[in-house]
Amino acid sequence: MSDIVLCKSPKKPIILGIESSCDETAAAVIRGRKLLSDEIISSAPVQALYGGVVPEIASRAHTDAIDEVVARALKSAGVKKEELDAVAVTYGAGLLGALLVGLSFAKAFSYGLGIPLIGVNHIRGHLAAAYLEDESLEPPFITLLASGGHTAILYAKSETEFEVLGSTLDDAAGEAFDKVARVLSLPYPGGPQVEALAREGSCSVPLPVMLKGEGDYHFSYSGLKTAVINYVHTKEQKHEEWSRADVACSFQHAALDILVKKTAEAAHEKGVKTVTAGGGVIANGYLREELAKMCAREGFKLVLPAKRHCTDNAAMIASEGLLRYRAGLFSPLSLNAEAYIPLG
Ligand code: KG4
Ligand code: ZN
Repeated sequence: MSDIVLCKSPKKPIILGIESSCDETAAAVIRGRKLLSDEIISSAPVQALYGGVVPEIASRAHTDAIDEVVARALKSAGVKKEELDAVAVTYGAGLLGALLVGLSFAKAFSYGLGIPLIGVNHIRGHLAAAYLEDESLEPPFITLLASGGHTAILYAKSETEFEVLGSTLDDAAGEAFDKVARVLSLPYPGGPQVEALAREGSCSVPLPVMLKGEGDYHFSYSGLKTAVINYVHTKEQKHEEWSRADVACSFQHAALDILVKKTAEAAHEKGVKTVTAGGGVIANGYLREELAKMCAREGFKLVLPAKRHCTDNAAMIASEGLLRYRAGLFSPLSLNAEAYIPLG
């Protein structure tokens, strides 16, 4: 890597981001914090036929799509590959076969062009999505992370350092949405389906509020999920009428209200003025509204990524790539894909 040329455009580096950890093959180009292009080819419609992501299908779909998605991203950004300053790529966590497609492609780009490779932790990518939304966003701030694999409240001390204040003790919020979707016979991916159904219902089903003690930032979703399953089974066994929309609405409120409450507590405790969020569940309209109301009431500035930057995308990987580029955090070409990376 000795022939790498650093900082062709030091203040506003042009970075290609690549994401292939699950069922989206994505590529994006940024110049500084400005997003120049943002492309996704998704295998979700095929995965939906199987009721979830089949790893082998995901790997094959990435292999088919990666060339095209990167070419599209460069073309719509109006950037030649020789102009890139770095390539940032998700190296974990995720499906190994899927990750390896993006990672191998990024390594070849880095080696061929003599530019740095920046391995990005997918979750840090979700957290960095907010930087694309607001040029002036600066730590410290509190971030609510809610995705298919994680639910946590974090304190961002600097652009590259986070303290985990609390996290889920069992299921992640997105996982709970997906499981409840199955109980309600809704197709994959479940989160947006539950949200849509919830809009037609009222919150009339008594469900336990998930709290693991006041004064901490830990969550538990398995009790809530079990309560939904028990409610539905009991109604069916007794042949009683019940409303799927009311269950969806009641579950959504129980699952999300606690996140808003705990985020407010964390922001007050840390004395920050700004709240951000990231991860697929943050695309939920009810959660976005409740976060906005809470921040208006409590006097915090709220920076939410656009909905398309909450679910998996490459713009967030490029954004995290920029933070690491500025900090000089580059990766060797020996970087390996990781199925699991601890949050801390
Ligand atoms: O961040 P993400 O795209 O992938 C992971 O890194 O996990 O999150 C996917 C999760 C899924 O569980 C999905 O059901 C959930 O985010 N999700 C939603 C919504 N959109 C996606 N959950 C609730 N409401 C939504 N609108
Ligand atoms: Zn994700």
